[in-house]
Amino acid sequence: MAGLSAPSIDDAGLVDLEAVSEGLWLTWADGHRSLFHYVWLRDCCYCSSCGDTYSSKRFVTPLDMPVEPVPAYTHIDKRGDLEIAWQPDDHGSRYAAAWLRRHCYDDQSRRRRFHEPCLWDATIVDDLPAIEFAAAATDEHVRFELYRKLRDTGFVVVRGGPANPGGVEAVAGLIGDLGESAYTRIFDLTPSSPTRTMGNTFNEVPPHTDEAFRYSPPGINVLGCVRPASDGGESILVDGFQAAAQLRADDADAFDLLCRYAQDFNRVHAGSLDQRGRQPMIVLDDRGAVTGIRFHTRAAGPLNLPADVVVPYYAAHRRLCERVFDPANQARFQLEAGDAVLFDNHRVLHARAAFSDPLRHLQICNVARETFHEQLRLLADKLGFGAEADQVLAAGVS
Ligand SMILES: [Fe+2]
Ligand SMILES: [Zn+2]
Repeated sequence: MAGLSAPSIDDAGLVDLEAVSEGLWLTWADGHRSLFHYVWLRDCCYCSSCGDTYSSKRFVTPLDMPVEPVPAYTHIDKRGDLEIAWQPDDHGSRYAAAWLRRHCYDDQSRRRRFHEPCLWDATIVDDLPAIEFAAAATDEHVRFELYRKLRDTGFVVVRGGPANPGGVEAVAGLIGDLGESAYTRIFDLTPSSPTRTMGNTFNEVPPHTDEAFRYSPPGINVLGCVRPASDGGESILVDGFQAAAQLRADDADAFDLLCRYAQDFNRVHAGSLDQRGRQPMIVLDDRGAVTGIRFHTRAAGPLNLPADVVVPYYAAHRRLCERVFDPANQARFQLEAGDAVLFDNHRVLHARAAFSDPLRHLQICNVARETFHEQLRLLADKLGFGAEADQVLAAGVS
């Protein structure tokens, strides 16, 4: 109904509490019901003497808590907030209903709190997630739309940005300050560069995540186009989370091997660079959800795994490659001068088609993922999207 917004969960007070041996069942005015263990409630007391963890200023440690805190008194006050007097240490705690609701840990509430990525395949080129640079630079709501697209699909195309060399930094600035890479802050991708990488040839470059050999690979890559090739050189992206989900569905044993065992990744330039990492290609969180992908066939070193794992591991890597190299999973598009694509290097693999135009010139730089996620939370809070500020975002590969 126009002019009326749905009641926020923040408006719902507590209406009932039921004490059981391990904790309190709390019920909100909108019917939501959730269990809170006594030890959890006592630990989370945010009174002025306990402090609070959001400001990283907690004044008590677990050793200051009773081993088995038990309430001597529980009460829902007139505002619908919870009061508890604890024994044996005679401590008083008060919890706002909205604060408790924000931290409910029943299965449904936790599921909602974790961000769900939108998986995609080659057909995403029919409706690429895209934003105009000028609008994102001047309008915070447009900038937040950019953040949402980058968060949900793992990439976003920014159209109409600065095409001059170095202009890519202004595009990166939409999400944060530049981070470092194994090379330079802004790396030139052009056949005329003296740097001997695959990116600086005319060749096609197969899908990979950048710098898989580092403990903490670059986070959000920003690839800007100064001058496209007159022939080919299209950018190709693959959703690593989609490829992993396909592998998980089709061959759970192969998926499990790539999660459990580490792959060595190397980049050694004699005398100047010696980066070696050893990590799984697929990283899971404690829920079993994929939070990051490392994939770099050019840098994948000889396996250093138990003898009985070597053959099945190679087979599993091959099965993941089949999905990554499947054209049905590859989004292929051309960046024009002044366009840039921002992509999550812990999720989205990038590749490039071959070309022969010597004047093709792209530039790449990066912003740390945690910087992007921080900017997203700050802007979400500022614009009134508190639930999005509170969402748990994938932590990546490290
Ligand atoms: Fe790359
Ligand atoms: Zn306290």
